[in-house]
Amino acid sequence: MTDSVVVQDRGAVRIIRMNRPEKKNALTQPMYAEMTRALREAGDSTAIRCVVLAGAANAFCAGSDIGDFQKRAAGGLEPVTVDFLHALARNEKPLVAAVGGTAVGIGTTMLLHCDHVVAATSASFATPFLKLGLIPEAASSLLAPQRMGHARAFALLVMGRPLSAADAREAGIVNTIVEAAAVDETALKAAQEIAALPPNAVMLARRLMRSQADSVAERIETEAMHFKELLKSDEARAAFAAFFARKK
Ligand code: COA
Repeated sequence: MTDSVVVQDRGAVRIIRMNRPEKKNALTQPMYAEMTRALREAGDSTAIRCVVLAGAANAFCAGSDIGDFQKRAAGGLEPVTVDFLHALARNEKPLVAAVGGTAVGIGTTMLLHCDHVVAATSASFATPFLKLGLIPEAASSLLAPQRMGHARAFALLVMGRPLSAADAREAGIVNTIVEAAAVDETALKAAQEIAALPPNAVMLARRLMRSQADSVAERIETEAMHFKELLKSDEARAAFAAFFARKK
């Protein structure tokens, strides 16, 4: 358990809220573990029909904690991130995201596993993996080109160019853009709308629409293998150190 993730059930909707606003919701290993647990529990529950992934008012999620990357590079931490990615990709309940602000790294790539995304007008989406000496994860190397075409996926994933909320909607990542204050409520309404549909038919439709689950799982593993190696590279170590030294 960690207070940095708050799980709340509102009727048939489970809200999993990342709650580390002082660090822009950068995800630590305990946060990943708790999100995995909450997702799997929702999957096993007949009472829960839809899950909302939410963040803080101005930060959806700043990606994985770079301090954890440093510890992993030094061989200090067992990653639970891959377990989370499989839980996300294999999850059978519809996923709605409430993106109130910045979404970086996995904060953006997890959206490729969501079924409906509501974003604030001020939200931004970026995946600076290459700038950190890393490669894209969460099967985004497979899912992003499919979703937005190779050219746009390359600009996002490899060149690290950010997307505005309007860009993300055009790229097929975001459904609805609202004022920041209305993000949570709009997402909850969408989740309630989904939860009111016949659950077995929703699950079946969703499964059919995600017919490449095995390829996604395989890509998660392949990316993770390369990611693990790259974490130890001199380039990556220098980029992590530069991030924490930037304000000094
Ligand atoms: N890992 C660890 N700490 C992080 C973090 C991350 N991914 N993202 C933000 N933080 C911390 C900052 O170090 C800072 O901590 P401090 O107050 O102790 O100095 C705090 O969160 C607030 O971040 P700050 O950079 O001051 O906020 P900002 O509004 O200027 O910028 C971001 C927000 C998200 C754009 C910026 O923090 C950022 O680029 N973060 C890194 C994102 C990233 O590269 N993630 C990994 C992708 S693979």
